[in-house]
Amino acid sequence: MDRSPIRPRPEVLTTPPVMHGAFDFSELERLGVQPEGVLDFSVNSNPYGPSPLVREAIARTPPDRYPDRECLSLRRALAEHLSLTPDRIMMGNGTAGLLWLVAFAFVRRGDRALILGPTFGEYGRCAGLMGAQVREIRGRAGDGFRVDVRAVEAALASSPIRLAFICNPNNPTGTTLAPDLIAHWADRHPETLFVVDEAYIRFCPALDSLAGAGISNVLVLRSMTKDYALAGLRLGYAVGCADVIGALVRARPPWSVNALAQAAGVAALRDEAYLRDTLARIRAAGPELVAGLRGIGLRVIPSEVHYFLVEVGDGARFRGKLLRRGIQVRDCASFGLPACVRIATRRPEENRRLLQAAREVWNEG
Ligand SMILES: Cc1ncc(COP(=O)(O)O)c(C=O)c1O
Repeated sequence: MDRSPIRPRPEVLTTPPVMHGAFDFSELERLGVQPEGVLDFSVNSNPYGPSPLVREAIARTPPDRYPDRECLSLRRALAEHLSLTPDRIMMGNGTAGLLWLVAFAFVRRGDRALILGPTFGEYGRCAGLMGAQVREIRGRAGDGFRVDVRAVEAALASSPIRLAFICNPNNPTGTTLAPDLIAHWADRHPETLFVVDEAYIRFCPALDSLAGAGISNVLVLRSMTKDYALAGLRLGYAVGCADVIGALVRARPPWSVNALAQAAGVAALRDEAYLRDTLARIRAAGPELVAGLRGIGLRVIPSEVHYFLVEVGDGARFRGKLLRRGIQVRDCASFGLPACVRIATRRPEENRRLLQAAREVWNEG
């Protein structure tokens, strides 16, 4: 047995790992399945891929030059896009990288952090790794997983909370919270930094963003890997007041956003027409997919975005059987929902392939 005296911080050993969607390449290797042959419904990204302008921009970017540490061009382009000033924006290596940075910069050991479950696993993990006591307030299935507003208000009032993570729209449930309510909580609790993860907001046109609200204790995180389909490049950004952004800038690692991602981000923002068109297609394809699943006899839990939970009895088993047929969905056991899988709408012809495979698997029992 390894008796090395070199030990990590205790939290590194006690914080559980988090599962995610997307391919597990060792699993595919074990099953003898080629990744190219699998349709991935387990990630919630734009299935049409990035704008053609993105590929051209990547091809023009020299890989041997260090990237701009401050991401000036991209921040300026985003500032214009969001009608903000660039000093309110910080780029990161995906939203996931920004979440870790927020925890690194703001959590002191023993601080309290609040999460509204079931939700994206990295909130609890990044806060836990920094030594926070993480409390989860869970929505109930019988309530459509809506946030228990009273329970949240009681938790905020009972003891100081350093970070409150709010995923809006929420992953995996597709529920939303009124931005006015979050703003109200932020006003009542100036000691808490509300980290509002709007990774999926462009998939939910009815939901207003808090990015432009200018609330000093609200930090908005946005991903460019979902709507702009840049998951492989890793790109996200934070919008907040100058003090909070300034703290993140001081704490970040150097060159954390690579040159290809920066060039891709600028190009993607230039092609808003492509984004609008593809998002509209995804929205239009959703009802047929949901109706098809219901037609098979599956219970689909209503959602306000393009991904949704489906009750299948044994999520892991259902996922495994679909994977052998070249279709991947998200088993939701890690969200505490072992009876569910999460499915994201893809292109109409791909959705029909999923329906065909799901029907076979469901009828097999
Ligand atoms: C709610 C939520 N936030 C953030 C992320 C991570 O996004 P990124 O690819 O920008 O790191 C995910 C990825 O699944 C997510 O579901």
